[in-house]
Amino acid sequence: MGLRILQSFVCSVPMLWCLSMLLLLLYTASQRTALAATRLGENETDHFALLSIKAQITHDPMLITSSWNDSLHFCQWKGVLCGRRHRRVIGLNLQSYNLAGSISPAIGNLSFLRIVSLMNNSFQGEIPHEMGRLFRLRGLDLGINLLEGKIPVNLSHCSNVRFLDLRQNKFIGNLPKELGALSQLVLLNIVSNNLTGVIPASFGNLSSLEFLSARENKLEGNIPGSIGSLKSLIILRLSKNELSGMIPLSIYNLSSLTSFWASFNQFQGSLPQTLGLTLPKIRNLVFSKNQLSGSIPRSIANASRLEILDLQHNKFSPGVAVDFGNLKNLSKLFLSTSGLGTGDVNDLNFISTLVNCSELVELYIGNNGFGGVLPNSIANLSTQLQHLIVGGNQISGNIPADIGNLVSLNTLHMINNKLTGSIPASIGKLHKLQLVAFSRNKLSGEIPLSIGNLTLLTKLWLGENILQGNIPSSLGNCKGLLLLNLRTNNLTGSIPREVFGLSSLSISLDLSQNSLSGPLPLEVGNLRNLGILNISHNKLSGEIPSSLGNCISLQYLYLHNNSLGGAFPQSLESLRAFEDIDLAHNNLSGVIPKFLGSFRVLRNLNLSFNDLEGEVPVHGVFKNASAVSVSRNTCIQVAKMSFG
Ligand SMILES: *[C@@H]1O[C@H](CO)[C@@H](O)[C@H](O)[C@H]1NC(C)=O
Ligand SMILES: *[C@@H]1O[C@H](CO)[C@@H](O)[C@H](O)[C@H]1NC(C)=O
Ligand SMILES: *[C@@H]1O[C@H](CO)[C@@H](O)[C@H](O)[C@H]1NC(C)=O
Ligand SMILES: *[C@@H]1O[C@H](CO)[C@@H](O)[C@H](O)[C@H]1NC(C)=O
Ligand SMILES: *[C@@H]1O[C@H](CO)[C@@H](O)[C@H](O)[C@H]1NC(C)=O
Ligand SMILES: *[C@@H]1O[C@H](CO)[C@@H](O)[C@H](O)[C@H]1NC(C)=O
Ligand SMILES: *[C@@H]1O[C@H](CO)[C@@H](O)[C@H](O)[C@H]1NC(C)=O
Ligand SMILES: *[C@@H]1O[C@H](CO)[C@@H](O)[C@H](O)[C@H]1NC(C)=O
Ligand SMILES: *[C@@H]1O[C@H](CO)[C@@H](O)[C@H](O)[C@H]1NC(C)=O
Ligand SMILES: *[C@@H]1O[C@H](CO)[C@@H](O)[C@H](O)[C@H]1NC(C)=O
Ligand SMILES: *[C@@H]1O[C@H](CO)[C@@H](O)[C@H](O)[C@H]1NC(C)=O
Ligand SMILES: *[C@@H]1O[C@H](CO)[C@@H](O)[C@H](O)[C@H]1NC(C)=O
Repeated sequence: MGLRILQSFVCSVPMLWCLSMLLLLLYTASQRTALAATRLGENETDHFALLSIKAQITHDPMLITSSWNDSLHFCQWKGVLCGRRHRRVIGLNLQSYNLAGSISPAIGNLSFLRIVSLMNNSFQGEIPHEMGRLFRLRGLDLGINLLEGKIPVNLSHCSNVRFLDLRQNKFIGNLPKELGALSQLVLLNIVSNNLTGVIPASFGNLSSLEFLSARENKLEGNIPGSIGSLKSLIILRLSKNELSGMIPLSIYNLSSLTSFWASFNQFQGSLPQTLGLTLPKIRNLVFSKNQLSGSIPRSIANASRLEILDLQHNKFSPGVAVDFGNLKNLSKLFLSTSGLGTGDVNDLNFISTLVNCSELVELYIGNNGFGGVLPNSIANLSTQLQHLIVGGNQISGNIPADIGNLVSLNTLHMINNKLTGSIPASIGKLHKLQLVAFSRNKLSGEIPLSIGNLTLLTKLWLGENILQGNIPSSLGNCKGLLLLNLRTNNLTGSIPREVFGLSSLSISLDLSQNSLSGPLPLEVGNLRNLGILNISHNKLSGEIPSSLGNCISLQYLYLHNNSLGGAFPQSLESLRAFEDIDLAHNNLSGVIPKFLGSFRVLRNLNLSFNDLEGEVPVHGVFKNASAVSVSRNTCIQVAKMSFG
């Protein structure tokens, strides 16, 4: 029964699991026929070969091969499958047993073998050339092991092999051109090895090939044009190699192709304008990180099954004239950093064609030259949209007021544009937002109170705008905030205590270069995880609260250019992580604490322009004249050094 399944089984995509499925079916069959096997005598060749294989297994923590002993017929040994009539070994399934050791050349003596899976173990050493004698072999899965050396040329003698999976090993050297003779081969997976050299032109003779995955190797040179004759090819994955030159036009004629992944190579040239017509079944087109040029083919509009289009990090010519409206399943459109956009007012017209793409989840158009305004239709994009990245363009105008319609948004990234107007209050409806980045625009008005509705927010960048008014105390509801950047705005009033209650803040709190006034609240002591605190260039007054001594993770403390008075807080003595402290241009008085000399990683200390007095300590950071500035105080400099 097992054999019949094997012979008639036709695998469909994705085929990676195909081999495992076959093994499972065959294994079940073998369990049923095991009794018959004991009655039928044994074949010594297979018996000895299996014992040799066992002898090379040095580590067997699950005691799989302990059943490989003389009290059972070898057809009953775990992982061994025999044919029903002739009682020869036809299958060896030892996958995922944590086995280590090498593969014995004796495997070449199991001449009836049809399927071998040693997948997901720690087998080392080379593939024995003797495997080339297994002319009945249909499937060989050696993926996820520690195998090394070259792929043996002799595997090309396994003329019946359909599945050859060598992924995630340490194979080196060239792909043997002789493998082109495997006319039955359906799947070739060599992902994540260290293979070098070119893809042999002879691979164009693998006429049954449906799945070719060579991702993450060091293959170089052009893709041979002969690959374009693999009419059955469904999936072609060549990403993360050193392939170059033009992608042969013949590949775009492979009408069965559903996935073509070619990212992270050095491909040049343009995409054929007819691409969307000649690849009618294409679902994934991934060309990121190459040097492709020319315009994005309009015919992409005709590839109606397209799900992922990734053209990022290329050098395309500026216009995007594709009507995406017909691509109902488009879920990821990645166009960042690809030379697009002319700065023209109509640059973003294509966004309106995306409103019918109801499956759209990710839209990246950042770091291009797109001009014009964000069309209001952006608010009508799919409610499934999670990532909207438009930062690093020339986009002007307002953020559309109805942006709050995009209720699945997780990331809203618009930094470094020319956006004006205020931040729409509707942003408070985007309850799933985790990252909001509006820095380096010309946004004005107040920060909407509704920002406090974003309870999942982890990073908020609003710096380098002209926001005004108070910092909303509702920010205190964003209890997962790791980073808050409001620097270089026109914010006024006192800093709400609620902000200092955000003990989640760990990366940075930057409120510098505003017009914030009032004291630094006692609650600052809640920021126990905070690494960077920057409130420099404001109008803070009062004393530095001693609770600052609770901020045990502080590495960078910038309070310079304020009107803070009182003494340098003694409570800071227990803090040990400081690398840089700048308290210059305040009204601090009293002496410079000696304990500052014992801060081992402190590299810069600026206390200049205060009213400090007394002796300057001589230890630690004070030993390095250029690291310390105390000028314009009334300090006595004990060591003969010139400060600041
Ligand atoms: C095992 O099979 C081989 C090949 O069919 C044959 O030459 C040999 O005689 C068999 N040995 C036994 C012990 O059955
Ligand atoms: C042989 O294998 C069987 C089945 O796993 C096991 O019960 C038996 O203890 C083994 N015998 C020896 C001598 O290891
Ligand atoms: C590999 O084997 C381990 C157990 O040995 C298992 O947990 C893991 O899921 C397997 N991985 C794959 C990809 O089969
Ligand atoms: C294969 O079998 C032959 C004949 O039984 C034997 O001489 C040879 O040593 C075996 N090869 C290996 C690698 O075990
Ligand atoms: C590899 O194939 C060659 C050519 O068929 C053959 O002469 C040689 O014996 C094979 N090597 C092994 C180890 O089987
Ligand atoms: C490939 O080779 C490099 C060095 O040549 C090595 O660092 C890397 O681990 C190798 N990768 C694999 C998958 O063997
Ligand atoms: C493909 O196979 C044909 C016929 O077997 C052979 O003549 C040709 O050389 C092969 N092509 C390559 C590139 O190996
Ligand atoms: C692609 O197919 C078309 C139509 O069948 C044919 O005219 C063209 O020459 C083919 N192009 C390549 C590069 O194979
Ligand atoms: C390709 O798509 C465009 C725009 O949607 C459409 O006008 C044209 O008819 C389509 N062509 C074919 C051959 O389907
Ligand atoms: C879109 O995807 C769905 C679900 O996978 C599928 O049923 C449908 O046929 C696809 N539509 C197109 C145009 O490919
Ligand atoms: C958002 O916050 C505002 C002000 O804090 C509140 O009035 C409103 O009900 C909230 N809206 C939603 C949709 O949660
Ligand atoms: C900042 O605010 C002050 C007073 O509210 C105002 O005079 C000034 O023009 C504002 N600056 C900018 C750049 O809007």
